[in-house]
Amino acid sequence: MSAFGVYVHVPFCRERCAYCAFATYTDRDHLMARYLDACVLEVQRVAGAGGLAPATSVFFGGGTPSRLDPEALCRLLEAIPRAPGAEVTVECNPEDADEAHLGAYRRAGVTRLSFGLQSTRAHVLAGLGRRVVPGAAGAVAAAVAAAGFATWNLDLIFGAATESDEDWAATLAEVVSLAQPPPHVSAYALTVEPGTPLARERWRHPDEDALARRYRRTEAVLGAAGYAWEEISNWARPGHGCRHNRLYWEQGEYVGIGSAAHSHRDGVRWWNVRTPERYLAAVESGASPEGGREVLTPEQREFEALALSLRTPRGVPWASLADADSLGGLVVRQGDRAVLTVRGRLLANEVSARIRSGILLR
Ligand SMILES: C[S@@+](CC[C@H](N)C(=O)[O-])C[C@H]1O[C@@H](n2cnc3c(N)ncnc32)[C@H](O)[C@@H]1O
Ligand code: SF4
Repeated sequence: MSAFGVYVHVPFCRERCAYCAFATYTDRDHLMARYLDACVLEVQRVAGAGGLAPATSVFFGGGTPSRLDPEALCRLLEAIPRAPGAEVTVECNPEDADEAHLGAYRRAGVTRLSFGLQSTRAHVLAGLGRRVVPGAAGAVAAAVAAAGFATWNLDLIFGAATESDEDWAATLAEVVSLAQPPPHVSAYALTVEPGTPLARERWRHPDEDALARRYRRTEAVLGAAGYAWEEISNWARPGHGCRHNRLYWEQGEYVGIGSAAHSHRDGVRWWNVRTPERYLAAVESGASPEGGREVLTPEQREFEALALSLRTPRGVPWASLADADSLGGLVVRQGDRAVLTVRGRLLANEVSARIRSGILLR
């Protein structure tokens, strides 16, 4: 069975975190029920037009999918054709880790949960402009285990201005020493996204040297705890990699459902209109919610495939890097492949630039 993914975008949040630029809203909860109905309609139409293979992975992302009524989210999941053994992930906020949500998900065939924790330190969360949920890590881990999920992820962010190296070390230590630690961890360097409250306040921007130190610490702590890097910002224990993420990293085929959702097939990328209102207006009137598309040139496809692979332990062919020998310290040679070192992972964009020059020089 070839890999095929379905991504469902859920554009609702309780509060908007100061760093976040995702297409999500805090004042549109009244649209939730209509939105779910529209997503079911879109699934049926895309499937009817032959655009959905049985999904080997389904990913509910956001926004905050756990903000939806869990039974309603499960009805949408039921409408999505799935291959046997499909991976189904739901992104959740820690305050939704209760039996009503997790029990319903498990009964409906959800196999994997992903929680945005970001940090275990209250002053770091406050500095990020993120709601503080005391004791969240332990409570989430216990709820996930009680509901019987075999695999799950915690999202972390490092680099807040209110975070010290010791704060980050403490967050990592708390996560890996939980009684039921997450088998997958995503740790992101805080990124200043244009238009966010974070972007407007320079004193809150992350320091490059601090980001580098904390990234090294992440690799050291997670590596020692049995997690292997599977992509620059993702680590997993054996057998707990995320199939849906892998599909993105391997330029696989996926269809996005819902506002602002992106799709890819065979070098063609398209995306739905960004706001839930415009999405509802299109779907409810029988029109396509597509907002735009782009057709990649063969060179763009080749560059993207290599740049994505470079971010993983598979690396890229040594010969695809212009002047690879001068990249000492950033890549190591493994057979005929070039794989990023920890230092190289911090400077992956500079190494990608050599891939581009390699393509242009041909
Ligand atoms: C859609 S959100 C996760 C689900 C849920 N809404 C939550 O926040 O708990 C995906 C993840 O992206 C990461 N993220 C979002 N904006 C970021 C930024 N500006 N810099 C670094 N990481 C970011 C956070 O770790 C967040 O948990
Ligand atoms: S980080 Fe998550 S909870 Fe915060 S605004 Fe973004 S999507 Fe919503």
